[in-house]
Amino acid sequence: MTDSTQKRLFIQEVSVRDGFQMEPEFIPTDDKIRLINQISRTGVSKIEVTSFTSPKAIPTLADAEEVMKSIDRVDGVEYAALVPNVRGCERALSCGTDEINAVMSASESHNKANLRMGRTDSLQQIRAISELVGTQAVVNVSLSTAFGCPFDGDVPATEIIRLVDQLASLGVKRLTLCDTTGMANPVQVAALFRQVGATFPGLVLTAHFHNTRGMGLANAVAAWQTGVVHFDSSLGGLGGCPYAPGASGNVCTEDMVHMFNAMGLATGVSLEALLDCARALQTLVHRDLPGQVLKAGPSTRRYTRKGATCQA
Ligand code: COA
Ligand code: ZN
Repeated sequence: MTDSTQKRLFIQEVSVRDGFQMEPEFIPTDDKIRLINQISRTGVSKIEVTSFTSPKAIPTLADAEEVMKSIDRVDGVEYAALVPNVRGCERALSCGTDEINAVMSASESHNKANLRMGRTDSLQQIRAISELVGTQAVVNVSLSTAFGCPFDGDVPATEIIRLVDQLASLGVKRLTLCDTTGMANPVQVAALFRQVGATFPGLVLTAHFHNTRGMGLANAVAAWQTGVVHFDSSLGGLGGCPYAPGASGNVCTEDMVHMFNAMGLATGVSLEALLDCARALQTLVHRDLPGQVLKAGPSTRRYTRKGATCQA
């Protein structure tokens, strides 16, 4: 991948997976389906609908089959699901999932905390997943903690390249670099995306940032400047990893779309429709979310100056 000012971006909504997995209360299945159907009509290119994990590990997504089977499928939208192992992949395929998003971590400790297995075992799972999927769906791999691990600290770029090399040899064509706990900074983001893009030019790369330390949008711009056009984000900034201390919400979808629109880039997404979805999500989780455009309105918003006198 080379530096570019690519103008068409692809926004991939993850609130109903990355967000709902952290919710303390179970969101009723019908409410999830209604929200996903609403998100499907905003212009996003992909929705990560759910995850097919152990219901003991992630009880809030125990209704994965019902949700995936019941949602409307809108043309032009891909419906993805996160899977931790072959069992999850079988479940996802049985529901007609378009993209199997196999997850593993770049760091050994986070892989063990999150998936209860080492990275070598995860790579074996991904090998078997790739074979199982065949032409029924596409496989994306989300590499968690790619910019730093809350247990192991720095994850060297050489380690990322080594893992991506192994994934590419398994036939993986789509890769998401995830900043699971908001440790990345824009200089690091640009350097890693450049290096991975240059080493594996055939891979379709996605940037997945959490705004834990307020660097999420800056990191998105840094990734875009290296040519990345696929971005994961979450309505209202909902989200986090239950197996990563201190993890908090993803980059907020409506804030990111607002920013890219203001920069003159095409996202294909209706900001107004997204804001409606974010309001619906706030109602479902019974609280205000961190998204800022939801509070301030778009920068095109104008006010009437009250009490102004006209001085001729
Ligand atoms: N879907 C449903 N159930 C599953 C499953 C899957 N994909 N994988 C395993 N299970 C079940 C097993 O059948 C077993 O059930 P039982 O206790 O009723 O016999 C139980 O889960 C434990 O299975 P085991 O293979 O021993 O798994 P584990 O306890 O070592 O956990 C994972 C491994 C991967 C299943 C679990 O850690 C997990 O689901 N992690 C997901 C974490 C996550 O989603 N994090 C956030 C996103 S990054
Ligand atoms: Zn995440």
